[in-house]
Amino acid sequence: MKNVLITGISKGIGKALAQKFLKEGFFVFGTATNGGVDFTDNNLSVIQLELTSKESIDACASTILQSGKKIDILINNAGGLFDEDDTVVVADKLRKTLEVNLIGPIDLTEQILSAINSGGHIVNLSSTAGSLSLVGHESHFEGHYPAYKISKAAVNMYTRTLALRLKDIIVSSVHPGWVKTNMGGSDADVTPEEAAENIFKLAISNPETGQFWFNGKKLPW
Ligand SMILES: NC(=O)c1ccc[n+]([C@@H]2O[C@H](COP(=O)([O-])OP(=O)(O)OC[C@H]3O[C@@H](n4cnc5c(N)ncnc54)[C@H](OP(=O)(O)O)[C@@H]3O)[C@@H](O)[C@H]2O)c1
Repeated sequence: MKNVLITGISKGIGKALAQKFLKEGFFVFGTATNGGVDFTDNNLSVIQLELTSKESIDACASTILQSGKKIDILINNAGGLFDEDDTVVVADKLRKTLEVNLIGPIDLTEQILSAINSGGHIVNLSSTAGSLSLVGHESHFEGHYPAYKISKAAVNMYTRTLALRLKDIIVSSVHPGWVKTNMGGSDADVTPEEAAENIFKLAISNPETGQFWFNGKKLPW
């Protein structure tokens, strides 16, 4: 049985991903900020994780390391959008955004790297909003959520640098589409299940490392 660790499975894309991997016969470690989710499965283990808390990240990493299970796929899915209506970077919101979307996921990833199997895959949930070349060219990106964009551009650079460093683990960034979740809102055109299907396909495939994907195609950085 293969093992996947998915952060942020309480709702949205993370929940759909956890359910997809369970259906496909994986053992799922999933995280939630309050330590619980509204679904159960014999092959699901939920771990508390608050990405703004160093203590919580350390405890989550040590639970994984002490479980004795090796991770085949890590999906850094948990994330937050805290400056949706802003056009100006507000330092406190930037700090929180970077903690949740960048520093927390990097800290967790680095702590559990030794538990990731050779041939494994690390998938970082990014966004076209973090693409330096696409930003400004699509209407829904105009001006808004600069801290979120900065965080996802930095996530993409983590994908690149980690991919260059790791010789036996694939590292990818993925854009899930505009997804109907708390974050994406009700006007979005992709369901969490559709997004999870595409991310699952990428996660179990053997793609070129250090790339940025959307539905099987490379995106520009
Ligand atoms: N929806 C879109 O259109 C879209 C587009 C591009 C990229 N993305 C990316 O896709 C990922 C999932 O987004 P989503 O749309 O599914 O969002 P969502 O429905 O708001 O869910 C976010 C998940 O992240 C967790 N999370 C939030 N803050 C956290 C924190 N401080 N510590 C630990 N976990 C935290 C939440 O857990 P709790 O419920 O426990 O707080 C929840 O499980 C994110 O990385 C997002 O940036 C989404």
